[in-house]
Amino acid sequence: MARSPGAIMALMFILMAAAAAGELSRLEHDLKNDGSLKILVVGDWGRKGTYNQSEVATQMGMIGEELDIDFVISTGDNFYEDGLTGVDDKAFEESFSNIYTAKSLQKPWYLVLGNHDYRGDVLAQLNPVLQKIDSRFICMRSFIVNTDIVDFFFADTTPFQLKYWTDPEDDHYDWRGVAPRETYISNLLKDLDSALKASTATWKIVVGHHTMRSVSEHGDTEELLQLLLPILKANGADMYINGHDHCLEHISSNDSPIQYFTSGGGSKAWRGTFTPNSDTLRFFYDGQGFMSLQLTKAKADIVFYDVFGSVLYQWSMTKFSNQILQFPM
Ligand SMILES: *[C@@H]1O[C@H](CO)[C@@H](O)[C@H](O)[C@H]1NC(C)=O
Repeated sequence: MARSPGAIMALMFILMAAAAAGELSRLEHDLKNDGSLKILVVGDWGRKGTYNQSEVATQMGMIGEELDIDFVISTGDNFYEDGLTGVDDKAFEESFSNIYTAKSLQKPWYLVLGNHDYRGDVLAQLNPVLQKIDSRFICMRSFIVNTDIVDFFFADTTPFQLKYWTDPEDDHYDWRGVAPRETYISNLLKDLDSALKASTATWKIVVGHHTMRSVSEHGDTEELLQLLLPILKANGADMYINGHDHCLEHISSNDSPIQYFTSGGGSKAWRGTFTPNSDTLRFFYDGQGFMSLQLTKAKADIVFYDVFGSVLYQWSMTKFSNQILQFPM
């Protein structure tokens, strides 16, 4: 059946509307007056204070104060063992509000979901009604935080892992809003690719729950290496930050500038496993702790801290490509 020009126009509008609807949500965050940004990154934490969660939280509060942080990133597995049962689950207060009480941590928390969060009522954590209980909690599936020097791309990685769908064993995953898997993944990859391409920020940082490269218990996530990593490489992403493995680690990609940082030491740790991979392992700590990230237009500083707030590892990276050369006047 031949379509009239009017019908084709209508179809185009529908397609455009669909494309617009598929775009990732964007939030804006201001830099400090000196043009810097300071954040803490913690993952795999919600255990009502147990397994040193409270100790890590106390040290985050002290380091957060020292650095005067702008916000906190959670790399997921926000509530163990099975996410939240609903928006009225007391675990929200017991594992979040009543634990991260320090003044310096009363900043926005940008959170992604982990696989354990999918084992409860997944929509509860995404429900903005939680912000009435604690306004810090900003959790979405995949979204972008824009600043003048860095764009953060938060990606929901749990649906990538095929075995959760095909072989969940005794675990139940709440796939509302993401099934069917293939459609969800292809849309997300498309959205991330175009957002990364359009980004003009000096730094492009991708955050997800699952590992890409890891020497700890879970190791690499093959689905992410196959599907997500090529998009990061093609668009010049600087870092991929994740949790999932309950440790702190830094791995450098051997065939791209990408740096992999795992910050998954928010509570239970000490798995005692080590499996090397072909990329360059720079740092690995199998215990509890967290990470700070300090950024200016020219420099990124990463620091890992343990449960006592002691510095375990520091790493810096500079960028010259965007530097404005100063000439004598
Ligand atoms: C708490 O941290 C200390 C110091 O790292 C460690 O020795 C201890 O095993 C941790 N406790 C738990 C329950 O993980």
